[in-house]
Amino acid sequence: MRLLEASGIGKRYSGVRALGGVDLTLERGEVLALIGENGAGKSTLMKILAGVQEADEGEIRIDGKPVRFRSVADAMDAGIALIHQELNLAPNLDAASNIFLGREPRKFGLIDETRMRREAAGFLEMAGLAMDPAAGLEGLSTGKLQQVEIAKALSVDARILIMDEPTSSLSQAETEVLFGVIRSLKSRGVAVIYISHRLGEVTELADRVSVLRDGANAGELARGEVDRERMIRLMVGRDLSEFYPGHAGVPGEVLLEVEKLRTSYWPDHEVSFRVRAGEVVGVAGLVGAGRSELLRCLFGIDRPLAGVIRVRGVEFEPENPRRAIAAGLALVPEDRKTQGLVLEMGVPDNLALASLWRDRRRGGWVNEAAVDELERRMGEAMRIKAAPGQAVGLLSGGNQQKVAFGKWLAMEPAVLLLDEPTRGVDVGAKREIHTLMAGLAERGKAVLFVSSDLEEVLGMADRVLVMHEGRLAGELDRGEASEESVMRLATGTKDFEAA
Ligand SMILES: Nc1ncnc2c1ncn2[C@@H]1O[C@H](COP(=O)(O)OP(=O)(O)OP(=O)(O)O)[C@@H](O)[C@H]1O
Ligand SMILES: [Mg+2]
Repeated sequence: MRLLEASGIGKRYSGVRALGGVDLTLERGEVLALIGENGAGKSTLMKILAGVQEADEGEIRIDGKPVRFRSVADAMDAGIALIHQELNLAPNLDAASNIFLGREPRKFGLIDETRMRREAAGFLEMAGLAMDPAAGLEGLSTGKLQQVEIAKALSVDARILIMDEPTSSLSQAETEVLFGVIRSLKSRGVAVIYISHRLGEVTELADRVSVLRDGANAGELARGEVDRERMIRLMVGRDLSEFYPGHAGVPGEVLLEVEKLRTSYWPDHEVSFRVRAGEVVGVAGLVGAGRSELLRCLFGIDRPLAGVIRVRGVEFEPENPRRAIAAGLALVPEDRKTQGLVLEMGVPDNLALASLWRDRRRGGWVNEAAVDELERRMGEAMRIKAAPGQAVGLLSGGNQQKVAFGKWLAMEPAVLLLDEPTRGVDVGAKREIHTLMAGLAERGKAVLFVSSDLEEVLGMADRVLVMHEGRLAGELDRGEASEESVMRLATGTKDFEAA
């Protein structure tokens, strides 16, 4: 008998269909990868299985018995736990309290702290995390927070663990730890549903792959059939070249010059480099190397401790983003939820936000037609999936990222700063974003992007700056950059002074 069988699942949001007639099965101890383009309905389906939302139609059976979840607690009782795309922990509580939140063991009516911590320690260990259960969560990396979430799932004795894009903000090392945990769960008979846009991971982990497209089943691949081309064809409905687009931009004047910049993240180390018009420059490095911090300082979100920044040869003091925008900079931030978007507003307003801001400064007026044109152009180029008037906060994760990207792109900035530009976006949109980056360089702009996806760095960058502990460990030309040479610099194996 199947562990889980969902059939004919349908869900609408204010009349718009997110899922229709979707089937899904799961066996004990199986790792099932669920893939599909942004907005295909993956998270929605998982929320239904985990009791976060109710389906409008369809049936869910566990061990052959029909179940009906009205709450997350219902689903947990049935052994299903979901680790959300955006993590869901309380940072002000300690690890043990997070794990047992709302289910604390009690003695004489009071929370039995000793027992709670002892049990939490056991679950943390199973999740592969060596930490004091009495310690708070502040300052923990995303990977570790995820392990706390896994410990929580183990504590409810989950037989089905759902992970929605668990690795999108993990380092390579954290990803490997997570894979180890998944394999050990599997060997204990726990079934895992794994959502990811990283097809390499899917190939490595999945026993079976199920594909959604536009809210419906698009097909399934058994372990032996899993390869990138097949997955892409099922997701996108056509073949897609996996090559990175080149560009014909010719390096011109120096648009961005950074001299001896020091950030509070690595106060004793400094960075100097230049980016020319017509160049796409990648910044590689391990998590914590200070890459995002560098971009945030350039854009005026954080204040640098020292150093000089010049845009088009003119010195500029990045006091705040507004000044940075006026100087011709734009930043697509890493965390779309908190930095990039106004979640209550719709897609057109968000897209127009940055450029209107700039145009107003120039004494211009908001031009409704221009906003419509912007939306049409960006919607076409990025294929943003949204219902008319839908608030950006209700879009699927990847579609939010596309809006964040489109918003800044619409400005045609002289220097575009990108922090993990394709995190969480599907293969098609990834390609779109890469093409747009190349297009900017071709039109004589400078592009500086940070990425933890080494393939993307090697595929897109004309030049790679490798950061290690807050300084440049080295700079590699396209011809010199390889996985090995970048990693060697990123891990500090071979250090030379910043150029
Ligand atoms: N609360 C909501 N209100 C309105 N529409 C919603 C809501 N949640 C999701 N949707 C819509 O349902 C569709 C499916 O979204 P879902 O989040 O399931 O996609 P996804 O496959 O997880 O995409 P991604 O890869 O980008 O995370 C999208 O069109 C989305 O805009
Ligand atoms: Mg999703």
